Amino acid sequence: MQESNMAGWQRKQTSVEKGIVIPDEWPGYPLELFSLPEHYSEDLDCVYIPHGVIMDRIERIARNILEDLGDHDIVVLCVLKAGYQFCADLVDSIKVLCRSSSKTLPMRVDFIRLKSYLNDQSTEVLHIEGAENLSVLSGKAIVDTGKTMKTLLNHVEAFKPKMIKVAGLLVKRVPSGTGYLPDYVGFDISNRFVVGYALDYNEYFRDLNHICVISDRGKLKYKI
Ligand code: HPA
Ligand code: MG
Repeated sequence: MQESNMAGWQRKQTSVEKGIVIPDEWPGYPLELFSLPEHYSEDLDCVYIPHGVIMDRIERIARNILEDLGDHDIVVLCVLKAGYQFCADLVDSIKVLCRSSSKTLPMRVDFIRLKSYLNDQSTEVLHIEGAENLSVLSGKAIVDTGKTMKTLLNHVEAFKPKMIKVAGLLVKRVPSGTGYLPDYVGFDISNRFVVGYALDYNEYFRDLNHICVISDRGKLKYKI
């Protein structure tokens, strides 16, 4: 990808770049410890990442981004649909930080739509719609094989932005991974199908604040 050695965007690669690593053996929190929509009560196995933890992690990512940005104007490219919540909260966090420091940072927000999943399987077909006048910080909810991200970056490069940085809320440890890592990672997670916080299973579960693991029953119920 467009390397991190462009002016003003240098950042040391450390273990912090992997984000919060959630080990394979993490069982998640029991559902009954949290408040969840009643209509999904049978469709989830556990709360994998509570909403508050997501928000706290985003706050820190926002700070890292601001530190790296220097004086660059920023265009946030939100990767729809699953990335809408992450991008909205990230932009909010950046705004709050700017307000509480003396920083003023013009930010534009643009959107791109990707769809590569049917049920819980990746499909080869990738649809990209609507990307113009874009520059820089791409926010995606989940990166697994990294293939989608590579395709997206090729697409974005064609618009010749000054620089590109990618923030991924979740990076999934999948055997078929390309090794691609976003510049900013929220959580490094095991290879389980998660939903909530705008991540869907056939368009359901976006209306769930926490990131949860879907149950077999949930998969069956919303299968198409
Ligand atoms: N959940 C929802 N969408 C996804 C996932 C997932 O675990 N992996 C890739 N797209
Ligand atoms: Mg999806």
